[in-house]
Amino acid sequence: METGETTVRRAQVADAAGIARVQVAAWRDTYPGVLPAPYLVGLSVGREEIRWRRRLGRPHPQTATFVANDPEAGVVGYATCGPNRWRLPLPIEGEFYELYVDPAAQGHQLGRRLVAAMAAWLLAQHMRSACVQVLRDNPARWFYKHLAGRLVLEGATRFAGARLAQLTYAWPDIQSLDRLADPLDGTA
Ligand SMILES: CC(C)(COP(=O)(O)OP(=O)(O)OC[C@H]1O[C@@H](n2cnc3c(N)ncnc32)[C@H](O)[C@@H]1OP(=O)(O)O)[C@@H](O)C(=O)NCCC(=O)NCCS
Repeated sequence: METGETTVRRAQVADAAGIARVQVAAWRDTYPGVLPAPYLVGLSVGREEIRWRRRLGRPHPQTATFVANDPEAGVVGYATCGPNRWRLPLPIEGEFYELYVDPAAQGHQLGRRLVAAMAAWLLAQHMRSACVQVLRDNPARWFYKHLAGRLVLEGATRFAGARLAQLTYAWPDIQSLDRLADPLDGTA
């Protein structure tokens, strides 16, 4: 997929269907063998769209959602961030909550640009550090390590009836991630 003209910007309610489509495609691509199969089979784009419409229609002022938007394909990735929700061995102010790139659009720097957009926004909210939770068996953990995330906690979580090993990566200073941003991106 050509993503040369893909822009990263704040999400709008009209992006709900596109985000839901990417979410379900990315989960079904990423989590087989990690999350229970019945859960993945049961995912519904229509249900997720309703949830996203509600969420984007009444956004929490302390959180932000970004989309990577391709002029032809529409939404090809999304990310959400806000204050850190976890007790960690070091003080961390912000958190990358979700980061999903359409499987067909992966490998074109969109993950990196979405991280940069989140870092820039957190910095603008005076949050200078960030963490992310990732399932240990998700290969995306190596993406965060590649972006110089530091493994700070190994724990576990329960999801869809399964007990799953979970890792926390952290960036004590996210200015280096912000510098990955494309200056043309509309990430205000
Ligand atoms: C992880 C994810 C967001 C990365 O996005 P992407 O657009 O494919 O990655 P990018 O093209 O921006 O990659 C940026 C850099 O990270 C590297 N990278 C990407 N995925 C990687 C991985 N799984 N392991 C190691 N390095 C990785 C790339 O090689 C690239 O390196 P370079 O710029 O130094 O050459 C994407 O693969 C994805 O959505 N995965 C499925 C969903 C998921 O697991 N999300 C995280 C939930 S916690």
